Amino acid sequence: MPSFVVSGQKRLSGKVSVGGSKNSALPIMAASLLAQGCSTIYDVPALLDIQNMTDLLTCLGASVEKSGSGFSICCQKPLCDISSYETVSRLRASVLVMGPLLARCGRVKISMPGGCQIGSRPVDLHIKGMQALGAKITQGHGFIEARCKSLTGTKIYLDFPSVGATENLMMAASLAKGQTIIENAAVEPEIVDLANYINLMGGKIVGAGTGTIRITGVTELNGQTHTVIPDRIEAGTYAAAAAITRGRIQIDNVVPDHLKPITSKLREVGIAVTEGDSHIIVDASDKQKATDIKTLPYPGFPTDMQAPYSSLMSIAEGTSMVIETIFENRFLHMPELVRMGAHVKIEGRTAVIEGTKKLSGAKVKATDLRAGAALVIAALAAEGDTEIGEIEHIDRGYSEMDRKLTALGADIVRKD
Ligand code: EPZ
Repeated sequence: MPSFVVSGQKRLSGKVSVGGSKNSALPIMAASLLAQGCSTIYDVPALLDIQNMTDLLTCLGASVEKSGSGFSICCQKPLCDISSYETVSRLRASVLVMGPLLARCGRVKISMPGGCQIGSRPVDLHIKGMQALGAKITQGHGFIEARCKSLTGTKIYLDFPSVGATENLMMAASLAKGQTIIENAAVEPEIVDLANYINLMGGKIVGAGTGTIRITGVTELNGQTHTVIPDRIEAGTYAAAAAITRGRIQIDNVVPDHLKPITSKLREVGIAVTEGDSHIIVDASDKQKATDIKTLPYPGFPTDMQAPYSSLMSIAEGTSMVIETIFENRFLHMPELVRMGAHVKIEGRTAVIEGTKKLSGAKVKATDLRAGAALVIAALAAEGDTEIGEIEHIDRGYSEMDRKLTALGADIVRKD
């Protein structure tokens, strides 16, 4: 099993450029199923999750060709069935093909996604919304099947501003008859990126990025060219990596506005962050004050940055509280940090981290992609060597992390 070996206490410096957003590219690739003809999507990151989505679209009858930094996706006539649990459990975002397939061919059958390390990951809000649009849903033997003669626009209130449910329903409603209003919709930048792509294809979506999204259904959508927004979580991860080493780096290809929940928190800790049009400079001083966070839907502090931030707090001055409100089991990195000398107490969804002088290298393992990134960040500051196992989790969400960190002065080696 591949692992990373990190020799810590090297201050990071220099420049790193982040890639396109994984969590924008995945729904946009799914949305390409809505279109007659071909779409070309640029700045799709080279990740395991993207490869899994590519395989899924191919088995659905789409043709997916990589061309430079882009993917050309053509789907004349999608099949409407993903039977394998193996496909869906390998990529939870597979559920995002439900909306497009239901809208395009009136039927979709997918294996229940099942849970993952960070939580049970229910899809009840997706199902409720599709039923509201007129789909008949049957569940059994581990499958969800949705059928409809046609979809009719309606008003949908989401009990929780679910990113995936907002994306699935926005895609389904794009080809429904009449207008759909999604209330209490997710407002993440990835929702806006998806809406922009669908509108480019001829869709009629207004209000994406606000809690109320209005979609007027059209009869067909046509393939288009689109460039995915930069990955705000990858950018935040490298900012935390620089901060824990007391380094100074420039992070290129970002949308500073999308990073506000992260950069404002880093400034509270005592880290200087300056913004350009499409870059930020993170300049970490020695004094870093323990600062509480509570993860919330955007524009709150993102749950995907909770683990990387927890690593930073493990050697900050003072005690911080980390409250995880989005997923029920997203502290799996904490016991691994404790093995490296962190002082953490967990009570339910709250972790109390008492900053310590230093961390020491140890053998640890990644449990999910953000937890894996958190362990790399801790290893960068730890005394001695740290070996992080099961890094396939990291490869799911971070492209060439070892190469990028090495270019910033880290001593990190991939061991196959
Ligand atoms: C997306 O997951 C992201 N994944 C996640 O990133 C991210 O953590 C999450 O949004 C929150 O920002 C992709 O975009 C591919 P949700 P998603 O639906 O859509 C509950 C990463 O590390 N919920 O907003 O699955 C759910 O249980 C990944 O890159 C329901 O109860 O997130 C969770 O508690 C991890 N019923 C909360 O909502 C539903 O039908 C947030 O889920 C759907 C969700």
